[in-house]
Amino acid sequence: MRCQVAIIGGGPSGLLLGQLLHGQGIDAVVLERRSRDYVLGRIRAGVLEQGLVGLMEEAGVAERLHAEGHKHNGTVIVHPGGSFRVDFRELTGRPVVVYGQTEVTRDLYDARDAAGLMTEFGAEDVVIHGADTDAPHVTYRVGDEARRLDCDFVAGCDGFHGVSRRTIPAALRREFEKTYPFGWLGVLSESPPVGDELIYAGAEGGFALCSMRNDRLSRYYVQCPLTDRPEDWSDEAFWAELRHRLPADVAGRLVTGPVIEKSIAPLRSFVTEPMQWGRLFLCGDAAHIVPPTGAKGLNTAASDVNYLYRALTGYYASGDRAGLDSYSQKALGRIWKAERFSWWFSSLMHRFPGQDGFDLRMREAELAFLAENEAQQRAFAENYVGLPY
Ligand code: FAD
Ligand code: DHB
Repeated sequence: MRCQVAIIGGGPSGLLLGQLLHGQGIDAVVLERRSRDYVLGRIRAGVLEQGLVGLMEEAGVAERLHAEGHKHNGTVIVHPGGSFRVDFRELTGRPVVVYGQTEVTRDLYDARDAAGLMTEFGAEDVVIHGADTDAPHVTYRVGDEARRLDCDFVAGCDGFHGVSRRTIPAALRREFEKTYPFGWLGVLSESPPVGDELIYAGAEGGFALCSMRNDRLSRYYVQCPLTDRPEDWSDEAFWAELRHRLPADVAGRLVTGPVIEKSIAPLRSFVTEPMQWGRLFLCGDAAHIVPPTGAKGLNTAASDVNYLYRALTGYYASGDRAGLDSYSQKALGRIWKAERFSWWFSSLMHRFPGQDGFDLRMREAELAFLAENEAQQRAFAENYVGLPY
């Protein structure tokens, strides 16, 4: 089989890239290790920047997002000294949109089906060959059958544990990593959200986040030790801990409901450089991870897709290699700023083991300054709604 772009990974990065390329008449095959149901069953991000919304529009898949997504004009930050709201619309002119990653992925798969585009599910043992030559190809196996896909370019969209990043020789790669000494216990609950907007709470007992997917589905998180397992937390224990970390009026309004998903995610900052090797280009979690505070994971994946899509379009339209040659530098420029914001917001909102009195006073002072200073709030809002591409 042959195509112009072989896309490894059928998560949001790979699917969005595939749909955008299709719009330009560039044919791409997606190789996904898992089944479609498995990919659609993963509960992950929920907040979309305008840049991602714009790419969904450009790909022709934003109809349901516009009908069902909720625009959020601000967010509430709670800290031991009180709580305050940051007004995104007033400070930046832009909102964010609450629409689950699961829905984004579903819309993209539906569009792939409607356009008759090729996706290979259950693609195992994917190996990328000749990425540093002019004729790369990918080998893989579906069931007992060995297959080969020849292509002009390979897009490595296969997440943090994929093969694409490791295809770049170790001697040419530099990796930067920071791990955090806690995780997030997340719950998806069939209950109305506790507020109209997200609430980020930096409580003395640890961080908590009140988010949502729609009017009937709430998403809540609490900071927990890395050694905890989801089964260690009964639903009652989760609700009690969440209430404990919220201001009394918010806790009083909290409506609980059946818990339909419960999982623990570790927090990590990670970037690999460069994001290109020959004709292999990395996108999304394959190249970088942010801690979830500030909802940048899916949105940084989208910004990579934006640069790569435009670079490939330029190449196929006129043979112009400039976009491809500058892809890694451009993508990393924006990634590092999102890494900074996510690291800063995570550091501000969580309790770290061993924090002393001075550390806690610094944190209180920084939150108090953010609460009262418009310039600081504007910087926060600009980062939260998403820096320009
Ligand atoms: P992925 O979504 O990881 O998709 C990669 C795809 O490649 C997967 O479908 C995988 O099955 C496939 N694949 C992997 N290896 C291979 C292979 N060898 N061959 C073929 N296919 C392969 N972000 C937020 O903003 N907010 C959140 O609340 C949030 N929560 C998260 C919770 C968890 C548990 C995780 C892991 C991430 C979370 N993120 C969150 C981050 C966000 O979901 C990711 O940034 C986003 O999914 C990145 O998309 P991607 O397509 O680059 O990678
Ligand atoms: C969600 C996750 C985040 O990390 C965040 O900052 C906001 C929302 C969510 O899953 O809804």
